[in-house]
Amino acid sequence: MNILVTGGCGFIGSHVVRLLISKGIGVVNLDKLTYAGNPENVRDVGRHPKYRFIKGDICDAGVVRRAARGVDGILNLAAETHVDRSILDPGAFIRTDMIGTYVLLEEARLRRLKFFVQVSTDEVYGSVSSGKATEGSPLRPTNPYAASKLGADRLAHSYYATYGMRIIITRGSNTYGPFQFPEKLIPLTIIRALLGEPIPVYGDGRNVRDWLRAEDHAEAIWLAARRGRTGEAYNISGGSERENIWIVRKILSAAGAPEKLISYVKDREGHDRRYAMSGAKIRRELGWQPRRPDIADGIRQTVDWYRENRRWWEPVVRRNAAFRNYFDRQYGHRWGGGGRRRADGKQK
Ligand code: NAD
Ligand code: DAU
Repeated sequence: MNILVTGGCGFIGSHVVRLLISKGIGVVNLDKLTYAGNPENVRDVGRHPKYRFIKGDICDAGVVRRAARGVDGILNLAAETHVDRSILDPGAFIRTDMIGTYVLLEEARLRRLKFFVQVSTDEVYGSVSSGKATEGSPLRPTNPYAASKLGADRLAHSYYATYGMRIIITRGSNTYGPFQFPEKLIPLTIIRALLGEPIPVYGDGRNVRDWLRAEDHAEAIWLAARRGRTGEAYNISGGSERENIWIVRKILSAAGAPEKLISYVKDREGHDRRYAMSGAKIRRELGWQPRRPDIADGIRQTVDWYRENRRWWEPVVRRNAAFRNYFDRQYGHRWGGGGRRRADGKQK
């Protein structure tokens, strides 16, 4: 079997690529290598005879046609993924997350591929004030990232309803682990803790996310591709709801860094208070539950990975002007007391 994985040089995509190769499945990895894509993430499989990399954009129908030649199905992970960036600049999100998904779906339709998995997110439910979202709950995304992902999620479903294609939608919760780009809460906090730099916590730090290990997320996506019911959506919940401040404190303790690094900063606009999903459907129908549910253990292991893999993240954080510019743009106005800090922690 050969599978087209899009976004395979990103965080979760790289775990999916590694999983498929370990199972003897052929992989074509189509990735544009945006700021978030890093070929180092799949270096261990780079020379494998069943692995092929194509640098290209999922919005480019010609590239997609070439990449899909001879594949049985598509796992679509390519996306713009950072909520804060979508608030600064939504355009790329509409383009990649919605139009890119449309281009891939069209290719799958014309080629009559055996399956198409749209990797969606728990953000499509919006903030869940009580209980847990099930797959039938109202879809109420709030930020431009979540809204564009919902567009793709429903467009994929329409290809099932209209053309009878084998479409599966997965809605994963907040994912963490090795190879995550250091803009998201967990890797950003780990790196700044290791560097002894202030850690920006939005608002009161009590927003809740449901944390899932990347390896578990990858396994669930692949299981849903093989055994999921056609046209269905599956929540993939890590089952570990925690307040952000709990996560930050655990990281500081695992990194041996002091709590005085915590810096409460101006909140994210339209910040969803709580994400929470029921994982009952995928457990009942496919027998899946996370194999690595212990968040405290997961954080310790992830801190260890970043500690041991400075060569992976230092070029991004220390020597990458684009990241430093982004950091200044994103956080410059947030720090209290009118002060402005640079990505390297120094006061401006
Ligand atoms: P990521 O930002 O780490 O990686 C995204 C990858 O997509 C990068 O390699 C990038 O180069 C590539 N890409 C971006 N635009 C592209 C384009 N136009 N054409 C081809 N490649 C392109 O993302 P991630 O966190 O690994 O997320 C992967 C998928 O999982 C996304 O669809 C995301 O919405 C979804 N998801 C993520 C999480 C999470 O917590 N990270 C949770 C649920 C769902
Ligand atoms: O829920 C799934 C989603 O999880 C995915 O679909 C997205 O691709 C992924 O980026 C993630 O979105 P979040 O916005 O929840 O993740 P992030 O790591 O950006 O933020 C997690 C929480 O931490 C959120 O409440 C905002 C807060 N936060 C984040 C950053 C970057 C801070 O307090 N400080 C920060 O510097």
